[in-house]
Amino acid sequence: MTLSFTRADFPADFLFGTATSAYQIEGHAFGGAGPTHWDSFAATPGNVARAENGAVGCDSYHRWPEDLDLIEAAGFDVYRFSTSWARVLPEGRGRPNPEGLDYYDRLVDGMLERGLKPAATLYHWELPSALADLGGWQNRDIARWFGDFAEVIMGRIGDRVWSAATINEPWCVSWLSHFLGQHAPGLRDIRAAARAMHHVLLAHGTAIGAMRALGMGNLGAVCNLEYAQPADDSPEARRAATTYDAIYNRFFLSGMFRGSYPEPALEGLAPWLPKGWEEDFATIAAPVDWCGLNYYTRKLIGPAPGPWPALEEVPGPLPKTEMGWEIFPEGLEKFLVRVARDFTGDLPIYVTENGMAAPDRPGPEGAVQDDDRIAYIDAHLAAVRRAIAAGVPVKGYFVWSLMDNFEWALGFEKRFGLVHVDFESLERRPKASYHALATALARS
Ligand code: FCB
Repeated sequence: MTLSFTRADFPADFLFGTATSAYQIEGHAFGGAGPTHWDSFAATPGNVARAENGAVGCDSYHRWPEDLDLIEAAGFDVYRFSTSWARVLPEGRGRPNPEGLDYYDRLVDGMLERGLKPAATLYHWELPSALADLGGWQNRDIARWFGDFAEVIMGRIGDRVWSAATINEPWCVSWLSHFLGQHAPGLRDIRAAARAMHHVLLAHGTAIGAMRALGMGNLGAVCNLEYAQPADDSPEARRAATTYDAIYNRFFLSGMFRGSYPEPALEGLAPWLPKGWEEDFATIAAPVDWCGLNYYTRKLIGPAPGPWPALEEVPGPLPKTEMGWEIFPEGLEKFLVRVARDFTGDLPIYVTENGMAAPDRPGPEGAVQDDDRIAYIDAHLAAVRRAIAAGVPVKGYFVWSLMDNFEWALGFEKRFGLVHVDFESLERRPKASYHALATALARS
């Protein structure tokens, strides 16, 4: 199976990339990194499938040259990677770990040597335990700690990265982790969630300021979006979908790009937000140079009994990925149009993550024929082209992920990679989707 497009079907300046994150691939046990809340969350029974963790991951800490070779050979322009706070600052603050700084230094140089643009994300979820002990994202001081971390790591690599984003997916860092309890630190508490939602944004703005002070440009934010649709035509379902959309999709974009929070979210969150939150938008809405959107699926939403937000996800009829997520490429097109119209205007938008999990077992000859993934990527890139045709300044697209990795609470079983990883031998094996992309991206 092949993709139905080539580079030539996109604007000349459109960039293709692939994405990973530190804790999911590096092997957190290596190189003097400090403990994080994902290590303790994973060590607590019931939180992560088979109690797996990121101690070894894909061992990218040692195998990064091979990984960068794979990215280069596929014809990608950009590599989106993240920097582990606890690898750089094992205690979250104070003395940096020289090995950690050296690692990112080598990694960035390795990208440049291969003609890849380094797209850094400061934080992709592994909070140093020492800061979690102080309340983590619930503590307002995290904005300052995060700004200091940005200064330390970017003081080392900021002169060579092509772009830098602050915090991957504020919704996951706050709501998924402090209200739904599915990710570290595993809380189910509305006050903790509301405070984390606000502090994540305050930290974002503070880090943007810190990186500007270093003279860096091309700075951005990365939000994840899920297309929320009412489960039926009732006013109750419509209201539930509006609330879901406000919490998930509008809260963070609105904070960063409009300096306010949406009313349907404030309805339930206002009593729990930290005192004086209204005064923080000058920091939160610090100008950025681009906006990244991570998109995977839609959700059908209906009303549920109980306190605010009084809603629930309802199973939908569309074909699903291995995650159980419905495949809905139209949602990506609609979001690109909507985000430009309502929030970002002329600012470049990047699809910073998109991809799917599949069982991906090597066949008798060793090949992994992941046709469903090829079709998924094809359909979503068609949605991107429609948005571009409608005038949205979409400037690039990143596949999640380069290789199979530690898929958080679901452990190693959910495979998102273009490259198959055998987690016993750590051998990398490009799947059919990798080869299909290499063909589509080849420069003639
Ligand atoms: C995103 C995360 C990424 C990965 C994909 C499947 O929410 O950013 O780390 O887990 O989902």
